[in-house]
Order: sequence, then structure tokens, then C-alpha cells
Amino acid sequence: MLRTGCGTVSEAHIGQEEKKQKLRFSGWVYRRRDHGGLIFIDLRDRSGILQVVFNPDVAPEAHSLAHGLRAEYVIEVSGKLGKRPEGTQNPGLPTGGVELYADNLTILNESAPLPFSLEDPDTSEALKLRYRYLDLRSPQMQKNLFLRHRAVKAIRDYLDSEGFLEIETPMLTKSTPEGARDYLVPSRVNPGFFYALPQSPQLFKQILMVSGYERYFQVARCFRDEDLRADRQPEFTQIDMETSFMDSEDIIRITEVMLARAFKETIGVELPLPFPRLCYEEAMGRFGSDKPDMRFGLELADMAGPARKSSFKVFLDALDKGGRVMGLRGLGMAGLSRKEVDDLTNSVKEMGAKGLAWIKIRNGFDSPIAKFFPKEAMEEMAASLQAQEGDMMLFVADTEKIVQNTLGRLRIELGKKLGLIENQWRPLWVVNFPLLEWDDEEERFAAVHHPFTSPADADVERILSGDMSDKALLASLKSKSYDIVLNGYEIGGGSIRIHRQEVQSRMFEMLGISREDAAKKFGFLLDALQFGAPPHGGLALGLDRLVMLLCGAESIRDVIAFPKTSKASDLMSGAPSSVEQKQLRELHIKLDIPMEENI
Ligand code: AMO
Ligand code: AMP
Repeated sequence: MLRTGCGTVSEAHIGQEEKKQKLRFSGWVYRRRDHGGLIFIDLRDRSGILQVVFNPDVAPEAHSLAHGLRAEYVIEVSGKLGKRPEGTQNPGLPTGGVELYADNLTILNESAPLPFSLEDPDTSEALKLRYRYLDLRSPQMQKNLFLRHRAVKAIRDYLDSEGFLEIETPMLTKSTPEGARDYLVPSRVNPGFFYALPQSPQLFKQILMVSGYERYFQVARCFRDEDLRADRQPEFTQIDMETSFMDSEDIIRITEVMLARAFKETIGVELPLPFPRLCYEEAMGRFGSDKPDMRFGLELADMAGPARKSSFKVFLDALDKGGRVMGLRGLGMAGLSRKEVDDLTNSVKEMGAKGLAWIKIRNGFDSPIAKFFPKEAMEEMAASLQAQEGDMMLFVADTEKIVQNTLGRLRIELGKKLGLIENQWRPLWVVNFPLLEWDDEEERFAAVHHPFTSPADADVERILSGDMSDKALLASLKSKSYDIVLNGYEIGGGSIRIHRQEVQSRMFEMLGISREDAAKKFGFLLDALQFGAPPHGGLALGLDRLVMLLCGAESIRDVIAFPKTSKASDLMSGAPSSVEQKQLRELHIKLDIPMEENI
């Protein structure tokens, strides 16, 4: 990087000033201060900031040119480094002990006045996204993208050292059902036909295993047309891996070491290995989530026992219908006002619960529903929630799914509100997911992971010989899948795959995909599985989420150079946009469905 006498600004350091050699730096004017006589410039490049001093007595020409400098002008300066005078050092900057005494200045380019200050923390995100190239100049964004590069490099180097081959798979591929909605691309040369952008390289990586590339990886772009959130983008990046002849233990071990390397080489943190594990049922039962945040307690507890001893209809009805009653400890919340309790109730209602029952513990049990409970039932509830004087017990009664989901989300809300979330790294594996899950809307079973996930060994025979219309059987099947979770985020997931064609066909049958449809949509995979497919499995890490956590960012938008908004648009380029009629005609597309029908 260091050319003769010219380097990045972070390479300016104490010691160089003694050599008295002339140095040259290029970059952007970050700040400019005119102190009557002297002009100070903070020169910024990718590596940091360097103070440059223009002195009218030493370099009158450069000084007079420096008068005209404005924020974000691109300049080249040369001069000698000197130690900053006593009392003017800036220990917060790596170059804070030195300054450059400029004797020459060249303005390489001017800049229009900026639409926002790079240092203003209150600039709206929309404005920053519209001028993303400016936002990307901010030291924070540069730090994030630098860290992202380091993380990918650490992961690539590790996988390479373990014998993984990096292989690219197509972007224009086949639309398949299951998963999220596809982004479609019309084919001009095949009128009426469409490619889909890959939601992940899942099928291709499995086929690479059939082809004998037994350790594959790819830094893979994935596209999913789904509702967006802070941790979801329509296009995102996976560290996608697949291996043959390995079991889940091997894949889990490789992933742990890979993550430990990424942590060490980006933020210098040593993650203790191996990571703890929870089975899916335990994660849901204790934390109400398949991606539990382990940085704080407040675990959910089952309240069926004490609820049965009560005459509270809401609880008894839920239990009679086969549902659950569960509770959560509202730590120190006995003093909540009526309005605060109403707000809490509304928030769980928005999450899907019918209501929120509560009992405050202050000078005994204080609640409109206390009258329905014998005292020992309330004592039992308090004991299992470890609730004490000054706390509030919170309950939801409903189907298991609703109870766990709402209390799980409420747990996170309370963890944040009560300041219980400690600053630490708590990775864990969630394992033994169910294979299938009933989809109320579609009225059929859907794959919890994806349709290529292997059932648990003990379930393979049950699947091959069982009755596929037996809902209880299908709901009881377990899979060989595993998710990696970090501080409440699912940062990766994978599974051992089905490698026997008859099991894969049976899986499609369980998902209600007809033989013809399976052949039409996944025929290439079913065919490939006939030709000596090895046992195989893999995993994909969500790179954006991992880097977001490493950077301490709030959203994956902060670690993606050119992200999209929550409405999937790119405010800088203006994508998506309408196109010329001529382009549509070439693609054999006519836009004649009114907007309302699309919604
Ligand atoms: P899955 O769908 O779980 O698995 O995706 C793997 C990981 O990718 C990340 N991720 C996302 N990140 C940002 N924006 C999104 N819209 C988004 N969707 C997913 C998550 C997730 O854990 N082919 C399988 C992997 C396998 O079985 O090997 C797959 O794609 O961190
Ligand atoms: P109600 O009998 O509907 O007046 O409800 C009494 C209390 O129970 C209120 O605080 C409701 O918010 C709460 N509640 C209602 N339905 C549920 C439910 N399914 N789970 C937990 N609490 C509920």
C-alpha cells in the first residue's frame, strides 16, 4: 500500500517525523478549521484521519489554496510530519500525536455541498440510502465493510485449509415451490418461460455432492421475495457449505471452528468451544423461541398444574382444548400502572394472544383474577417462575404455538426494557427440529427446514411404511437439522439431507406434492439421487447477520454496501423501476392485471 513517500493516512505515525522525509497523502477533506493564521484540515481516507497544517509563513501558496477547501474536496498534500505541540494531541486517534506540515496542496476534485453531514447521527436513513456513496464514506460504515471483509477472509482461509472447494452455482435457475417467494426473470429467447433467482444454492450443492465434490463452499448471493425486517434483505449473502460422508457432529464442529476463527480475526474474541446445545422442544418450552437469546434468564414456565386448581375459565378452557397455560416473571414489575399493564396486554394481543393475565406480588397476591385461585396455586406459580415480592407474574393461555410465540417475544421485550441483556457472546445450537409442521392456511404439512432435510434415523422406516394421511404420525417426525443461534439471532442453519430417492419421493408425498409435480419441479434432483448419491449434509451461515452482530450494528443494512429498504427498493439507483414497453414486448410480457388484484 505504501508507495514511495506516500501512504494511507493511518501509516503516519510518531517516529516518521524524525526522518524528516517528505510524505505525500491523498484523501478527502473531512473537517476544516481556519484559525486566522493557520488552517487545519482533517484529511480522511479509508484508513483513518490525519491532521494537516497549512502555515502562511512556511507555504504561502498552499495556504492560500487551502482557504478554498470545503468538505469532501479530494486533495493531495505533501510535507513533513511533526509531533503535535504539547496539549494538542488527540489520544482518541491513532495518528493523534502527529500532524503534517503541508508545503504543497493539489485539489484533485471539488465537491458540491453535501446533503447531510457525515458526522450527524440524526440524518434520516432514507437520505443516507439515497446518497449511499456519501454514507459509505463515514468512518463507521468503512469500519463495518472492513470487518465484513476480514470475516469472509477468515472463513475462506479456514475452509480452504480444511479442503473445501469454492464453486459457483447459477443465478438464473429454476423456480421451485416451498420456501419464500421467488424473484422471477423472464426469458426472452423462451417466450413465456421464467428463470428464478436462487433462494439458496441448496439443490446445486446437493448435486455437487452427487458429482463427488465432497467439500464445497460458496459465498453465495441469495434472493427471497419476502416481508423484510431489520435482519432480512431481499438479497443477502450466505456462507454456503455442503459435505459428503460427514455426520451432523462433523458439520457442527467445522462450523464452530469457522465461527471461532471469524470472531478471533475480526474482533479478537475467543469463543469457548464447543457451543452449548438445546433441542428444539426445550428451546421452545424454556424460551418460547427456536432462536433463544441466552444472555438473560426470565425463562417461561408451565402453569398447567396450578391452572387446573383454579376456577379461571380462560385457563381451564385452553387446557381442555389441548392448549397450554404458561407464565413469565415480570421482574420488579409489581408497581406497573394500569396504563402500563394495558400497553403490555395490547402488545401481546398484537403478537397473536387473546389477552394477558397477571398477578402482582405486593403484600400478597394482587390481581382481578386472584379470586379464582387458591392461595397455594398462586404460591406454586410464583415458585416455578421464581417470582418474589415486587414482581408481577404474566400468563398467556392458548394453543401451544401461540403461548410460546407470544411469551417468547414478550420475554425479549422485557429483557430489553428491564436492561437484563448483558454484553456477552452466547452462541448455541438448536437441534432436533421437527421434520414437518402443519400449515393452517395451506391445510397441509410443510417442511420445517426444507424438503431435502433427512428425517431422524429412527423415523425413516416409519415414513417408508407408515400411512401418509396419519397427521399424528407426520407431526411426530423428527429431522436431522441444526440451527446456529447467536444472541437471539438465527445466524445459520443446515441439516443432513435425504440421499435415498425413495425417501425423497416419500417426503414430497408427505408435503402434498404429487408425483407428477415432484417430477416436474425437482425431477433433476430425484434423477441425480439415483446415480450413487453419497450421504451428505451441510449448512449455510447468514453472513450479513453474523457481521451485523460482530459490528454491533442494529440492522443488516449497516453491513451491506448497497442495501434495500423495507419496501425492497434501492433509494440510490431507484430500483425497481418501470421499463420501456419495447423491453416488455421483447420479453413477451403484457402488464394488464390491475394493481388491486395483485395485492
Ligand atoms: P436458511 O433458509 O435457514 O437455510 O438460510 C440460512 C441462513 O441465511 C440467513 N438468512 C437471511 N439473511 C438475511 N436476509 C434474509 N432474507 C435471510 N434469509 C435467511 C439466516 C439463515 O440462518 N439452504 C439452506 C441451508 C442448508 O440447509 O444448508 C438455507 O438456505 O441467517
Ligand atoms: P376476561 O375474562 O376476558 O375479562 O379476561 C380476564 C383477564 O384475562 C384479562 O386480563 C385478559 O387480558 C386475560 N385474558 C383473556 N384471554 C386470555 C388468554 N388467552 N391468556 C391469558 N390471559 C387472557
